[in-house]
Amino acid sequence: MSALPAPSTTAGHPEAARTAASEGRAATGARVEFRSLRRAFGPTVALDGLDLTAEPGELLALLGPSGCGKTTALRVLAGFEQPDSGEVLVDGEDITPVPANRRDAGMVFQSYSLFPHLNARDNVAFGPRMRGVSTAERHATAGELLELVGLPDHGSRFPHQMSGGQQQRVALARALALRPRVLLLDEPLSALDAKVRLTLREEIRRLQLSLGITTIFVTHDQEEALSMADRVAVLNAGRLEQCAPPAELYERPATPFVAEFVGTMNRLPGRLTGDGSVQVAGASLPVDGDIPAGRGAVDVLIRPESIGVTADPEGIATVVSASFLGSVTRVLLDLPDGVAAKADLPSRDATELAPGVRVRVTPVRRPVLVVPVRETTAAPEAAAPGDKVDA
Ligand SMILES: Nc1ncnc2c1ncn2[C@@H]1O[C@H](COP(=O)(O)OP(=O)(O)O)[C@@H](O)[C@H]1O
Ligand SMILES: [Mg+2]
Repeated sequence: MSALPAPSTTAGHPEAARTAASEGRAATGARVEFRSLRRAFGPTVALDGLDLTAEPGELLALLGPSGCGKTTALRVLAGFEQPDSGEVLVDGEDITPVPANRRDAGMVFQSYSLFPHLNARDNVAFGPRMRGVSTAERHATAGELLELVGLPDHGSRFPHQMSGGQQQRVALARALALRPRVLLLDEPLSALDAKVRLTLREEIRRLQLSLGITTIFVTHDQEEALSMADRVAVLNAGRLEQCAPPAELYERPATPFVAEFVGTMNRLPGRLTGDGSVQVAGASLPVDGDIPAGRGAVDVLIRPESIGVTADPEGIATVVSASFLGSVTRVLLDLPDGVAAKADLPSRDATELAPGVRVRVTPVRRPVLVVPVRETTAAPEAAAPGDKVDA
């Protein structure tokens, strides 16, 4: 995008000012609260008591597996869907009874939802036209917004004359045309190819920061969520698992679901020792979070970068494969009893780790989460939420 406005210093909302002040960003966004939202479609419970707040001016990502209720939450906020119970508040006001066309929300969808028979400028000017804004004024607005999204010369192009990425930029401009208090983005990048997705990710974030608009960004792509958002809300089966800044979500997952859904995670067999520690891969590690009662078998959740690997002919593990990923090399290990583990090492420390090499495994001594042993018959390995993220 060529022409982003300089970040504004005006803070229209006192809370926004407080939230944003520490980060030196513009803050004009609204606070959005979902309170105990419930929505069922027949037997399917899409939202099962969702509680979540988006702070003024923040980019909040809703992350979760397909079907966990992300789109339903956005649609309830936009007024396209009524909740069975619960409420949505914008700046403290319950907007649940307000019809969609009177809510101040701009929305962008995954599929390009531009009107095919209107050119880019008229697509962007559509909302203002419906509100009776004069032709001159709405064309001026459309021109500014197209410039803002980096398409100053595309006003007379029709959707079929633009790439997917360009169409999504126009959709973004259209969503902003009525100066919404909240911007809702439902997997806006999912249909684009990888390179365009990365560029637009950064541009949406820059735009959002410069406008200071509260933005709820739905995605099932954890990398997208972690790289763009101020905070990430992980949803599972219509409920909030955890809402936290990206690093906190990764470092201190509040639940086993979050631990396995965000980032790559090993699940290794361990044994509780009864003193707040767990024995895993020959090491004793302190347990973080809840400790299941008694001494017994548990699964230990441990990140690949928390496993040290050293070539050692006496070691009990064997290197199965080593994948060079640039600065990091991911080593797949064969531990006793048929246990597999992944370890991420700085590539300069992995040069000797060819397949078949014997190694010593030393988990980094830091607290780990333990969970009940997975019933392999009930939940096959391949269906575990964490497994799809590092394919
Ligand atoms: N209009 C609808 N009719 C019936 N079921 C629906 C409808 N909308 C959503 N659902 C169901 O509700 C659940 C949540 O859907 P959705 O909010 O679209 O999930 P997500 O966006 O996280 O993939 C899914 O099981 C979906 O099939
Ligand atoms: Mg969806």
